[in-house]
Amino acid sequence: MIQKVHIVEVGPRDGLQSISEEVSTVNKVKYIDMLTNAICPEIEVASFVSPKWVPQMADAKEVSSLITRKDQIIYSALVPNVKGLENAIKCGYHSVAVLTAASESFSLKNTNSSIEESIKRIEEMIPYCKENKIRIRGYISTCWVCPYEGNIGIEAVIKAIQDLIDLGVDEISLGDTIGKATPEGVEYLLEIILDSWPPELFALHMHDTYNMAAENIVVGLGMGLRIIDSSAGGVGGCPYAPGAAGNVSTETVARICMEQGFETGIDVEKLKLAGNYIQSITQS
Ligand code: HMG
Ligand code: MG
Repeated sequence: MIQKVHIVEVGPRDGLQSISEEVSTVNKVKYIDMLTNAICPEIEVASFVSPKWVPQMADAKEVSSLITRKDQIIYSALVPNVKGLENAIKCGYHSVAVLTAASESFSLKNTNSSIEESIKRIEEMIPYCKENKIRIRGYISTCWVCPYEGNIGIEAVIKAIQDLIDLGVDEISLGDTIGKATPEGVEYLLEIILDSWPPELFALHMHDTYNMAAENIVVGLGMGLRIIDSSAGGVGGCPYAPGAAGNVSTETVARICMEQGFETGIDVEKLKLAGNYIQSITQS
């Protein structure tokens, strides 16, 4: 039986968030609707964060109300705290992504909170999520290398995973925030965590600064992971991770999956149109 890989399209949030020129609401909506037409199974549409911290996401409400949603697609939003979560719920989301990190310095720069405080913020969101039947993905940034602290010890990642599991998150996305993970590093981390937890719990979220993402994903797939984050057109980065390039492109992940005999359910030709479109908007 052909196995499926679930691709989480993060381009509209991770891809666009650090682009300094404003991308218009109309163009964002067109991009997301193109991703919907390509049947990307899950789309992270926007983030409900402070507009002072990430101005590009200031129109998250408008974008969320203007996109055309299809029943078979999961639409999600990134939320750093209860305020963001309340806005996401008002905008009709049933799935959100929350944030923590394995590096103290990155957590402080990215969300003005220590790792412990970031976990506390997630804890505060849990009752609202339960009440509103909201699915939660937990991002752990800097699982391998931090732009401020360098190599990250595996214990910090394990602690973050355990904290998120204790809070009851449904899925954990392991972030290579600045694209410095190596296939050996990915194998080493996964070997250890998969001793304690099932592969279905984890996604890989690889930025592609040094063209290592594809190899790292092949390692992850080989070790049983079936959820991969990526961005159509490979646009983007993180405003609080200097030097980070965009996510691995969804086009690349879809190709890898096909080569490895996995199904993604994505219409690759329509996906390419979405990737080309957002590249033409952001690189002009
Ligand atoms: P803070 O300044 O400590 O927050 O920021 P605060 O609670 O003191 O509030 C300050 C102001 O922000 C107040 O407004 C709040 O109302 C407002 P004022 O009274 O000054 O007018 N505020 C908000 N406004 C809108 N939405 C909200 C919200 N919360 C407070 N949700 C905060 C703390 C977390 C808000 C801030 O640091 C922030 O927004 N950070 C987000 C940074 C971000 O989005 N980074 C990029 C995403 S993470 C990423 O890319 C990594 C990832 O891709 C994985 C990987 O690659 O590793 C996920
Ligand atoms: Mg990212």
